[in-house]
Amino acid sequence: MVALPLLSTIILLVANCVFASSSRASRFAAKRAADDIDVLALVDPLIGSRQGGNVFSGATLPYGMAKAVADVDGENTGGFSTDGSRITGFSALHDSGTGGNPSLGNFPIFPQICTNDDINECKFPIGARATLYKNDSIIAQPGYFAVTLDNGIKADMAAAEHTALFRFDFSASEGGNGTASPLIMLDLTDLWASRQNASISIEAAQGDSTGRMRGNGTFLPSFGAGSYAAYFCLDVAGGKVKDSGAWVNDRAGTEPKELYVTRGFNLFYLQAGGFIRFQGPIDSPILARMGLSFISSDQACSNAEKEIPSPDFDFDSLVSAAKDAWREKLAPISVETGGVGNDMQVAFWSAVYRTMLSPQDYTGENPHWTSSEPYFDSFYCIWDMWRVQLPFLTIVDPVTQSKLVRSLLDIYKHRGWLPDCSMSTCSGWTQGGSDADNVIVDAYVKNLKGIDWELAYEAIVNDAENEPLEWSVQGRGGLTSWKKLNYIPYLDFDPVGFGTNSRSISRTLEYAYNDFNLATLAKGLEKDTYTKYLSRAGNWQNLFKSDQTSVINGTDTGFAGFFQPKYLNGTWGYQDPIACSPLADFCSLTTNPSETFESSCWEYMFFVPHDIGKVIELLGGTEIFLKRLDFFHTSGLADIGNEPVFLTVYMPHYAGRPGLSAKRAHDYIPSRFNASQTGLPGNDDSGAMASFLIFSTMGLFPNPGQNVYFIIPPFFEAASITNEATNKTATIRNLNFDKEYKSIYIQNATLNGEPYTKNWIGHEFFSEGWTLELTLGETESQWGTGEEDLPPSLSTKTGGLSMGMM
Ligand SMILES: *[C@@H]1O[C@H](CO)[C@@H](O)[C@H](O)[C@H]1NC(C)=O
Ligand SMILES: *[C@@H]1O[C@H](CO)[C@@H](O)[C@H](O)[C@H]1NC(C)=O
Ligand SMILES: *[C@@H]1O[C@H](CO)[C@@H](O)[C@H](O)[C@H]1NC(C)=O
Ligand SMILES: *[C@@H]1O[C@H](CO)[C@@H](O)[C@H](O)[C@H]1NC(C)=O
Ligand SMILES: *[C@@H]1O[C@H](CO)[C@@H](O)[C@H](O)[C@H]1NC(C)=O
Ligand SMILES: *[C@@H]1O[C@H](CO)[C@@H](O)[C@H](O)[C@H]1NC(C)=O
Ligand SMILES: *[C@@H]1O[C@H](CO)[C@@H](O)[C@H](O)[C@H]1NC(C)=O
Ligand SMILES: *[C@@H]1O[C@H](CO)[C@@H](O)[C@H](O)[C@H]1NC(C)=O
Ligand SMILES: *[C@@H]1O[C@H](CO)[C@@H](O)[C@H](O)[C@H]1NC(C)=O
Repeated sequence: MVALPLLSTIILLVANCVFASSSRASRFAAKRAADDIDVLALVDPLIGSRQGGNVFSGATLPYGMAKAVADVDGENTGGFSTDGSRITGFSALHDSGTGGNPSLGNFPIFPQICTNDDINECKFPIGARATLYKNDSIIAQPGYFAVTLDNGIKADMAAAEHTALFRFDFSASEGGNGTASPLIMLDLTDLWASRQNASISIEAAQGDSTGRMRGNGTFLPSFGAGSYAAYFCLDVAGGKVKDSGAWVNDRAGTEPKELYVTRGFNLFYLQAGGFIRFQGPIDSPILARMGLSFISSDQACSNAEKEIPSPDFDFDSLVSAAKDAWREKLAPISVETGGVGNDMQVAFWSAVYRTMLSPQDYTGENPHWTSSEPYFDSFYCIWDMWRVQLPFLTIVDPVTQSKLVRSLLDIYKHRGWLPDCSMSTCSGWTQGGSDADNVIVDAYVKNLKGIDWELAYEAIVNDAENEPLEWSVQGRGGLTSWKKLNYIPYLDFDPVGFGTNSRSISRTLEYAYNDFNLATLAKGLEKDTYTKYLSRAGNWQNLFKSDQTSVINGTDTGFAGFFQPKYLNGTWGYQDPIACSPLADFCSLTTNPSETFESSCWEYMFFVPHDIGKVIELLGGTEIFLKRLDFFHTSGLADIGNEPVFLTVYMPHYAGRPGLSAKRAHDYIPSRFNASQTGLPGNDDSGAMASFLIFSTMGLFPNPGQNVYFIIPPFFEAASITNEATNKTATIRNLNFDKEYKSIYIQNATLNGEPYTKNWIGHEFFSEGWTLELTLGETESQWGTGEEDLPPSLSTKTGGLSMGMM
């Protein structure tokens, strides 16, 4: 575990005495103390490393391309897992928190000592070499990862931008102190064994010089189309090179020094690679510097030389540079704990850390076109990221968030389409609407700088108007029906383009929200298309079947009105409202494709982010709406481990009951989001689960695409965040804070000292550095309950409709 017990105890003591009062002076002290505290000690990269979190636990820089970790043969979607499975290699390209197939993990290297010093007694194939690790040997910290294999070989690792440095210490290993010759092998594979063909060349042994292997491979993206090429340049140092060569299956030889492998008969998968051996005994660890590139192996070598110069291979300064980089990224936030326990702090800071693992900065590594714009990859996928993760980066790192948006627009410029998902330089599969639209418009309403809004408008109109031939990877399908019928029909007839012809309900809802966002941008840019897209934003209503009921286990739940599929001819189809909920089967693109994607009609009933006022009306008023929400969250229908549920937690704000949102957030945190290694309810999805926790515990939750954050009391006494773009610090503070969370209801509030009654606030809070003070009590109050206090809804005109404009 990361948080050294002693250190965290000290931090708690400091926190308790410094944050005891909330006067202005102590706020200063708090800020100072926050600077003195090393928040990195409160980051545990192993949270979510087991039971489906799929979090990357290794060493990386913020948004770094090189991500070094041990790969296992158990839950290895993100490389490593604390599931006690076996280590198969050490590699340096990874994604974090994703679902589906394991991503990347290319060119793993592996240390060993061959029995009897006989090269053919070394274990080359993956199943043969896989080795258990010592559970208590794992050290995971921002910028550093260490683990000891059961055979005593200790591995630790650090990362620069495109290069990783691995250190293998054989001194305590079986046979490691004798005259045996330690070996480092490289396998031309990836975690998913998706390699199509690959090449390696191995330099001949040259005494004291480093041994170098370089090469490439073509692989398949883990959730996308086509293939990608990756390149490596491995330098190994630390002793006198004894010999080097190639291995194929379980045999090796010092000749040849070059190898080309491809898929053979029945796509047969040949296991092969290179090795380097050092003359034993060696008295210091072996260092392996792995340079990576998506352009060429020359570039992989030059990246490596530039980022981790030889011959020093300075491990320690690499670790401290990474830690400094992480400290700087976490610096905009400070928290006054109010005595809240260590676990909540660790859950919080670790979540902030995880939001900057992906997207990954591949600027300079784009194999598809040259551009002076930033190039980010691992938008994996925007369906997951637009709701909370990218909105969080907007407040904690607005400078990077504008680069992310520019990178999306540059993809549009060169590919002709905004992406919906991307990984390993390939386009990923589309899950619902064209969700980059929402990301871009969220940046617009939050006034991010440096973005070409005319280009943005063009890109989003393209999504709204033009159907691509292949809409599995970009754009929207069914646009002919969308324009003519104003919904996506069940079993649509669509000869214009091709994609998975399912999800008619969820696509209708998503397209409606995409068009709402487009309307917002059109209005801001004074385009006359504004009313057209605003009208399309209401298309969701066409799939609302007011008399549809829902039966569970033979008992009518008593609720009427659900979205239902509708044929081209206007006749209703049918999907059981509980289908695709945790009470029924999971539905994805390939598993059990249905009219709703990865979530049920029950859950999608609340996915009308721009017009909840109308949903409340259609469902029969606030009382029934709240009853339904409560039933949804308590009956097992809600899937808190997947993104569509997030907004439902904050729905009571629209019904004038902000206290119920606060209560619901406490129902899920920490019981489903916490500091344990199994502490995530689902895949982290590049930091989406992380961001749900962060926004909820900071007391402001976004409805992205709109200039709206719902207010609940923070889970700490106070939280502050400094906006990098304006240098102003916003603070949200609880008065009467109670760390046992009995007082979680806002009694009244002030904004910059003046009474504030709305239950939501705009982004100006962050950009202008305002102060919100909330007085808490043990029961719900009148605060934030009035009609004029509600967040805006399109058709009911509550909340002084800001339409997202500042
Ligand atoms: C290591 O941890 C895993 C996962 O918790 C567990 O299954 C395994 O038994 C542990 N191994 C040892 C030797 O304690
Ligand atoms: C080598 O290591 C083994 C086991 O760790 C130990 O028992 C032995 O004394 C060591 N031999 C030398 C020569 O250091
Ligand atoms: C390697 O595989 C890829 C994908 O299958 C293919 O496009 C490429 O031509 C192959 N390269 C060589 C050198 O065989
Ligand atoms: C990989 O390297 C080999 C040997 O240098 C070269 O022939 C091949 O074209 C390279 N493949 C790719 C995809 O760059
Ligand atoms: C439905 O019945 C099953 C089996 O009796 C039970 O486990 C489950 O909890 C019931 N579900 C609901 C929502 O009542
Ligand atoms: C509409 O189409 C569906 C599916 O083809 C069919 O079952 C239904 O009978 C049709 N309704 C009418 C009124 O023709
Ligand atoms: C932590 O979260 C996980 C995942 O949601 C959950 O299974 C576990 O019970 C939680 N632990 C605690 C102590 O609440
Ligand atoms: C923000 O404040 C810091 C420290 O006072 C200063 O170094 C920096 O230049 C300021 N940035 C802006 C954008 O004003
Ligand atoms: C806020 O509520 C608290 C507790 O009910 C009360 O003591 C205080 O006077 C109120 N402040 C304002 C400005 O209404």
